[in-house]
Amino acid sequence: MDLKRFWGLRVERRDCERLLEFLRERNLVAKGARFKRIGSGIAVPIERQLTAEETASLALLGIRFEGAEEEFELQEARPRSLHDILLDKLPPHLLASVPRAYDVIGDIVVLELPDELKGCGALVGEAALEVNKRARLVLNKTSDISGKFRVGGYEVIAGKGPTETLHREHGCVYKLDPTKVFFTPRLSAERARVASQVKRGEVVADLFAGVGPFSILIAKKVPDAKVFSVDANPFAIAYLEENVRLNRVEGRVTAILGDAGEVAGNMLRGKCSRVVMNLPAGSELFLEAASSALLQRGGVVHMHVFVEGRESVEGKVSALVERFKELGWGKAEASGFRIVREVGKRSYHVAADIILAGRLAHQR
Ligand SMILES: C[S@@+](CC[C@H](N)C(=O)[O-])C[C@H]1O[C@@H](n2cnc3c(N)ncnc32)[C@H](O)[C@@H]1O
Repeated sequence: MDLKRFWGLRVERRDCERLLEFLRERNLVAKGARFKRIGSGIAVPIERQLTAEETASLALLGIRFEGAEEEFELQEARPRSLHDILLDKLPPHLLASVPRAYDVIGDIVVLELPDELKGCGALVGEAALEVNKRARLVLNKTSDISGKFRVGGYEVIAGKGPTETLHREHGCVYKLDPTKVFFTPRLSAERARVASQVKRGEVVADLFAGVGPFSILIAKKVPDAKVFSVDANPFAIAYLEENVRLNRVEGRVTAILGDAGEVAGNMLRGKCSRVVMNLPAGSELFLEAASSALLQRGGVVHMHVFVEGRESVEGKVSALVERFKELGWGKAEASGFRIVREVGKRSYHVAADIILAGRLAHQR
């Protein structure tokens, strides 16, 4: 049997499942190598050493492990990518267009076929099921995320069963249907980052909550935190309510169907120490709403915005800070910002943490 050296993570049995979930979400589990049983735990071979950010996220999740380079047995070779499987089924000019990246949401693969592959949907879909042994259904995205509810258009190209699924992330589980609500696994690290900043007992407004991946993670990980989770999409709120039950955070997360502006300005006025604004396509229209939901002494706003290539990220964040000052905050500053992901050619999803304090008297 062949052996090869990989970076390995040794983990006790109680943390195995959550560590694997974390690694699989990031495609970090080494392909082609076998796990090793070590006493009551296992050693997992990974593709590269963890970054400081990934190590911090695991610490936040309470997952204990030890990392070191060691030898692992190699598995028999098996197809690794859509490209590998389609190698002798598609002509070279079409092979070059096969998607390299796709999302796996629960047991559903979501990919986007370029126009030239539209006639080969079933073939590519079956290949996706072969690569992703646990997947049951493959959806092709037929139109971009759009509209108030931020949902794309989809068609089934392979597999069977409903478009509803159960997705696991950071030890939480989310029931959702990607054809009815927004959801992307690509925000998983950002959710862990925001949740890691929330302190015990905080009251948080999640103004664009979707099916609850920020809200539920915060409620699950931060003792005594309370989250008010607002969304305008009735399907998202119905799933959010179910997800609150599935994750046993009843009484800690309150689902509110409505417009973020109205809810923040009325029901949540002056109640929250933190506001999450994960609507990059429109959060800037809700600065006044976020401001009004904050406590009199202020708090933190996690803004998500899109920044086009020609704008500078720093310029965009400074402009947001200035607009908060205009809304009557004596102190407004960005404690940090980061590019969450690239969303198109030279277009970025940016997260900025903005600290507000010293609300002027006439704003009360
Ligand atoms: C980009 S999604 C984010 C969902 C969630 N935070 C997540 O990480 O999956 C934005 C959400 O905001 C909701 N939304 C859009 N406009 C809204 C508004 N004016 N009031 C409340 N929710 C709104 C959409 O229905 C959608 O679920």
